[in-house]
Amino acid sequence: MSEDILISVRGLRSAFGPHVVHENLDLDVRRGEILGIVGGSGTGKTVLLNSILGLKQPDGGEILLDGMRLSEMNSAQRRKVDSRWGVLFQNGALFTSLNVLENVMAPLREHVDMPISLMEEIAAMKIGLSGLEPGACSRFPSELSGGMRKRAALARALALDPDILFLDEPTAGLDPIGAAAFDSLILELSRALGLTVVMITHDLDSLYEICDRVAVLADKKVEAVAPIRELLNHPHPWIHEYFQGPRGRAALAGKEN
Ligand SMILES: Nc1ncnc2c1ncn2[C@@H]1O[C@H](COP(=O)(O)OP(=O)(O)O)[C@@H](O)[C@H]1O
Ligand SMILES: [Mg+2]
Repeated sequence: MSEDILISVRGLRSAFGPHVVHENLDLDVRRGEILGIVGGSGTGKTVLLNSILGLKQPDGGEILLDGMRLSEMNSAQRRKVDSRWGVLFQNGALFTSLNVLENVMAPLREHVDMPISLMEEIAAMKIGLSGLEPGACSRFPSELSGGMRKRAALARALALDPDILFLDEPTAGLDPIGAAAFDSLILELSRALGLTVVMITHDLDSLYEICDRVAVLADKKVEAVAPIRELLNHPHPWIHEYFQGPRGRAALAGKEN
């Protein structure tokens, strides 16, 4: 397995006033992998994502991309980094007043200088890649199903040809069939486009189906990170309950049939 590290989180501390969310958290993301992040509600999964993205300043520790400290980058380097990653935020807010095509064009308008017609062409291509029909381009978010909205948000996250994709609970709120279809899409795209994917999820099926490794957040840090099958018998109480509880066992049984 490749030991080529793309993102390194070292000794991260995150706090809101007296409330410490992360303490001495370490995590490596390998180039080309699909890394799942799990953890109880409120354990700081989204805060971790926001810290990597630079949306929340670490209260201690370092985040490195390709070995470079984000904290030491100048604004031009930062801007370049921001165009290397695409993000599908939790509750993946599309702009409600823009149609799908305009939503997907938004990052292009912000980051690149090119004719509108070319932006439209690129946006339409990303919409197709995300598994939406061309007819979806002119629809508004309120006119889409939950699954279609996720796909539109995914198309927007891919607008700038990122090599890293962050997904915060992308299948939450989808029915199991919609969730499985979305998982396959992520797997296909990650292979076709050579993406590194970091996916926060509660969805055990996603963890089994598409994640190369799973990182578990507990007790303010990454308590364990390994391929899912190596975590099944982990002694930590939350990890044990998560994988060996009824839902965990049902998901595993589904894989063995
Ligand atoms: N902007 C904020 N201000 C204060 N506390 C916050 C803020 N964002 C997150 N938190 C707290 O940080 C903890 C981790 O939140 P979060 O990362 O959203 O959890 P989750 O693992 O469910 O994604 C929670 O206790 C949350 O209340
Ligand atoms: Mg969250």
